[in-house]
Amino acid sequence: MTAREPAPPPLAVALDFPEPGPALDLGSRLVGRVAYVKVGLELYTAAGPAVVTALRELGHEVFLDLKLHDIPNTVARATAAAGRLGASLVTVHASGGQGMLEAAREAAARAAGLGAGRDARLRVLGVTVLTSLDQAGLAATGVAGHLTDQVHRLAALASSAGLDGVVASPRETVQLRAVHPPPFLIVTPGVRPTWAAGTGDQARVSTPRAAILAGADLVVVGRPITSAADPAAAAERIGSEILAALAERGRPRLFGEAIGKERDG
Ligand code: C5P
Repeated sequence: MTAREPAPPPLAVALDFPEPGPALDLGSRLVGRVAYVKVGLELYTAAGPAVVTALRELGHEVFLDLKLHDIPNTVARATAAAGRLGASLVTVHASGGQGMLEAAREAAARAAGLGAGRDARLRVLGVTVLTSLDQAGLAATGVAGHLTDQVHRLAALASSAGLDGVVASPRETVQLRAVHPPPFLIVTPGVRPTWAAGTGDQARVSTPRAAILAGADLVVVGRPITSAADPAAAAERIGSEILAALAERGRPRLFGEAIGKERDG
């Protein structure tokens, strides 16, 4: 990317595929058009670190969504490995507790600049309550009280451990933003454009426009893009909706601009 090219929309496309072929195929069509491609548990388990390297070689920033949740030492080591691989974002479950979150943050800080050819640091995001869970589903895990309170409790934990931000539903974003001003990042999956059919297993969904207007810094979309007849066109359409919403929001697009600056060096 050169300094003259505008930063791509703050959209992360979830490459949730069972093998690397279709992920790299779609990835090659998205270069320069989205801020991140997201490698999650399915693709990483099937294809391993090589797919991250291949996506980086295509020119992508990689969001490694492994949702780490283990003892602090193990999470620190896995975070360090993500840094060496050149990932730009990695997720940990905020419910892993303060010690685990601090260990991840410290490992990411140590990894800065160590990955092959990387020019941006590894950011760590805390997953709050999965967007597939509703109030009853959360209660069944033994968490009493309101789901929203749990999201806020976990976001506060992520913030006090020094994480870069959280993953949360767009529906919680306005309230989270009020408590956690920028540069704390709010990344929102559970996003469905009005023209996409069905919500899949996501219980708490919003449109890309609503997510941005609520204050999201980065919008994660998977199946509405990967299941579309023309996935690259679907990504383009969602990216345009996000850019229009950013203009409507009338505030600086903090995350996207930071990414653009880092890339332009
Ligand atoms: O296909 P869909 O748009 O629902 O994909 C959402 C993506 O975001 C998936 O890859 C999923 O793992 C991820 N995600 C999520 N909820 C979270 C964190 C990540 O749905 N809280």
